Amino acid sequence: MKKTIIKGTGKAIPSQLVTNEDLTEIMDTTDEWIQKRTGIKQRYWIPKGEEIGASDLGLEASLKAMKEAKWEPKDIDFIIFATLSPDIFFPGSGCLLQHKLGLTSTPALDIRQQCTGFLYSLATADSYIKSGLAKKILIVGAEVHSTGLDKTTKGRDITVLFGDGAGAVCVEGVETNEDIGVITSVLHADGSGADALMVELPASRLPQRLPLDMLKNDARHFPSMNGQKVFKMAVKKLPQVTKETLKKAGLTLDDIDMIFPHQANLRINEFYREIMKIDKNKIFNNIQKYGNTTAASIPIALNEALKQNLVGKKGDTVLFVAFGAGLTWGGIIYRF
Ligand code: UT7
Repeated sequence: MKKTIIKGTGKAIPSQLVTNEDLTEIMDTTDEWIQKRTGIKQRYWIPKGEEIGASDLGLEASLKAMKEAKWEPKDIDFIIFATLSPDIFFPGSGCLLQHKLGLTSTPALDIRQQCTGFLYSLATADSYIKSGLAKKILIVGAEVHSTGLDKTTKGRDITVLFGDGAGAVCVEGVETNEDIGVITSVLHADGSGADALMVELPASRLPQRLPLDMLKNDARHFPSMNGQKVFKMAVKKLPQVTKETLKKAGLTLDDIDMIFPHQANLRINEFYREIMKIDKNKIFNNIQKYGNTTAASIPIALNEALKQNLVGKKGDTVLFVAFGAGLTWGGIIYRF
């Protein structure tokens, strides 16, 4: 039977380090507030004034993942690109990345599921592989948030949270009877909560799409968030979907060697850990270094855990779990 196996991972982190202290110079905030409420100490943003899009960071991460997988661009037969911050309104960043890889007809799909983007991408890749539609799939989660944030005190509740970055994973269909690869996927969405975390403009539903008066008065091109609502939903949904994913796989938490939760807020992940009674060393967090990199957070975390040899041994079983804008949430169990 065909299994979806990870052959390589890569990450790309932009060069401009932005500490909490740096943010205090541009808005009314403190290192203490940010660390206490979110756990974040620093994040990386693309250097000011440079035109670097999600597909550029995605390219860097992809080349590293492909090197590890020993793939040439021509080996890829499908590209899945998860981002909420595409280079341009359309076409999708997957097409832009495909061109940057020197490819001319390889199909490319964009996934717009925000913090759950990597999970939707991996589940989609798994379906393509198991149905025989593709064999070697490049999955990318990449975000350039920093060019779209309100960097004044008005936007401080959101701006301090987000970092730029990209993670890439090469997955391949392998014939084997071993119980390895993607074991189970669970995906959910509830669009009734769409306005809890969104960027409204440009909006095709509006007559002018990008009305200049709205930009001046309401700044509706910046993200808006009902932080407390999203926080409470995350703390409720992450345990729920963990239990659902484990049940679907016929496994228990004891069978899981490492959990990779989306990196939105260290406090959310701590609540989740306490509710689920998860051992401290069984959960991987790196939000302290990178902030919330949305679709990139889980592939970056996976890349780092593999490099640190925390996971990756044959039989190691990991859980990816995420909740975020959409609202969307999900869980995936993967065995090395
Ligand atoms: O990956 C996408 C999913 N996103 C999330 O999961 C985010 C979920 N939500 C959160 O992480 C938290 O709600 C936040 C970190 C965004 C906010 O933390 P909070 O504990 O919910 O704070 P709050 O919004 O209730 O604000 C408390 C106070 C307010 O001041 P007053 O009204 O009490 O005087 C805010 O104006 O903190 C103020 N505040 C800040 N102060 C300093 C908000 N942002 C900041 C800031 N620095 N950056």
